Amino acid sequence: MKDYASLWLAYKTKKNNRDCRYLRSIHITGTDASDERVKNAEKELKTGLKAMLDTEPEFIYGQTSDPIQITDGKSILDSEEYKISLEGDALCIEAHSGAGILYAAFDVLRTIACERDVEAEYASGKCVRPSNPLRMLNHWDNMDGDIERGYSGKSFFFVDNEIVIDERTVDYARLIASVGINGVVINNVNVKDAASYMITDRYFDKLARLGEIFAGYGIGLYLSLNYASTIEIGGLDSADPLDEQVIAWWKTKMKEVFTKIPTLKGFLVKADSEGRPGPFTYGRTQADGANMLADIVKDYGAIIIWRCFVYNCMQDWRDTKTDRARAGYDNFMPMDGDYHDNVILQIKNGPMDFQIREPVSPLLGGLKKTNRMLEVQIAQEYTGQQIDVCFLIPMFKEVLQFRTYVAENKDRVSDIISGETFGSRFSGIAAVTNTGNDHNWTGNYLAGANLFGFGRLSFDTELSCEQIAEEFAKMTISEDSDVVRTVTDILLPSRAIYEKYSAPLGIGWMVRPATHYGCSVDGYEYDRWGTYHRADHLGIGVDRTDKGTGYALQYNEPNASLYNSPEECPDELVLFFHHLPYTHRLHSGKTVIQHIYDSHFEGYEEAKQLAAKWDTLKGRIDDEIFENVKERFERQLVNAREWCDQVNSYFFRKSGIPDEKGRQIW
Ligand code: GCU
Repeated sequence: MKDYASLWLAYKTKKNNRDCRYLRSIHITGTDASDERVKNAEKELKTGLKAMLDTEPEFIYGQTSDPIQITDGKSILDSEEYKISLEGDALCIEAHSGAGILYAAFDVLRTIACERDVEAEYASGKCVRPSNPLRMLNHWDNMDGDIERGYSGKSFFFVDNEIVIDERTVDYARLIASVGINGVVINNVNVKDAASYMITDRYFDKLARLGEIFAGYGIGLYLSLNYASTIEIGGLDSADPLDEQVIAWWKTKMKEVFTKIPTLKGFLVKADSEGRPGPFTYGRTQADGANMLADIVKDYGAIIIWRCFVYNCMQDWRDTKTDRARAGYDNFMPMDGDYHDNVILQIKNGPMDFQIREPVSPLLGGLKKTNRMLEVQIAQEYTGQQIDVCFLIPMFKEVLQFRTYVAENKDRVSDIISGETFGSRFSGIAAVTNTGNDHNWTGNYLAGANLFGFGRLSFDTELSCEQIAEEFAKMTISEDSDVVRTVTDILLPSRAIYEKYSAPLGIGWMVRPATHYGCSVDGYEYDRWGTYHRADHLGIGVDRTDKGTGYALQYNEPNASLYNSPEECPDELVLFFHHLPYTHRLHSGKTVIQHIYDSHFEGYEEAKQLAAKWDTLKGRIDDEIFENVKERFERQLVNAREWCDQVNSYFFRKSGIPDEKGRQIW
């Protein structure tokens, strides 16, 4: 018995599909049967079909004479497409690669686990191609076992500066491959101390083994790199990207690294940010830094993923013209076109830092000649820390559907990161992940929906939030349709509810400094004067218009004008872009202050309703799941109440304007 949950790979016994004639024989064509991924696909199908349907299918391997044509000739990393069809009494799977076969196997297993009809699903031939070439998870695991912004225990990759490889490692690969993830960065972007030694002899054997396990599930292994490794472990006194000695050191190092870890796919780099070293120290550009490394790893077919979270965290917030939100665009746009082919810029979804509501980063739709990847966070750092339920897929869908106007058509964020808009080969989506060594992997069982959902969405950006939530509930919690409805009724509105009781109208922050959980209206940690939100007795909000910091003008038209105008700016972002009087009327018809009061009272009430819905599941689902989420809900209600009270009383005292509904504000 494993001491951790199987989550959506629990493969419970099913009543329907039992007599399905197609599942007695499975034909696999187009790939080499000895490919590790194909072997794992077969293993998974055998285990899953036996457990769910008590069937032991016969597997027949063949070559396809007529290669499947799903794409329009575009190149992707490693062809991951697949086709599933029914022929005679057999289920047929075709793919160009082992990865395609593996994804097809998980597709079939999901169909059965979700009790969908095999014939309806596959009779007319289902062809699937993942939306994004790269679909990655970024672990912020430190080598001592702690996880930066981790809310579900310790790392399962590292204990006391050693790499751990065990059954859980394999099950982790299975879990994430089953939802379509094809890349994992195992260590924290803040590469400090012992972690600098990750690319030394001490860790090569284990990393090679880990890379092989991952490869068997179609997952590429990536590492975070310390930009100043030449100094930290190389004995040089510089990390200048144009210095010959520095370049020579990296060449030798990379040769060693890729020889010892042949499956390694590349590196993630956080440079010049929050105390991390980078090329700025030497008067060089971000492109100089990224290109130097990229040119060296290119010989090994690898990539450099360079983060754009570069800003001055020491900015004096009393200066109303400098603005952290501008930093990504200001730092990276001028070098559009300078980055080499195997560099990908990784850009957070918003210009600040994973707040519950932010506008989409203008850099995502600004660059025209540079590979890019969207970075989101499923670790709920600012969104309830896996105590509060906050299903983030609706937020990610909004980001993906955002029109950037960077091109005449195909200009949504999803089009850009899929590679469609600019024909980029290296692009995709990454999430800062929410896993740890807790029994249920994600602290709160319902936070598992973000891990599951992120994978599913990264593979198919057109999936609906409803379908994702339903599949998660069915596969992880229970197949009883009433239970599934209750779980989806909790998940789907949970982000909107969290937003209601936390920072209002896009202003962001107001969280406790350092921990980032709980309310502290003046708590923005990089501003010791408590002026982040610029609230006084007359109004609130940051002026980011052409009269303020000018951030709104970083967008392409018509977005720039939309955000620049207090009348046109969408309500949910209005305080991100504008400083407004409390009496300003929103599109909703409410004043800013009344919106603050109403949304906070409602948010708390609605959180109570979610908890009450969960209570109805007692005795109808596994006790362990029930109790885990119940305990989290108890803490969520304390948090929601605190936010509601603090925000409302703060703004009542500041503005002196009473609630028009006469409710008591503490
Ligand atoms: C946030 C987070 C840090 C993290 C940083 C990053 O600021 O609080 O812990 O290192 O993001 O994305 O690099």
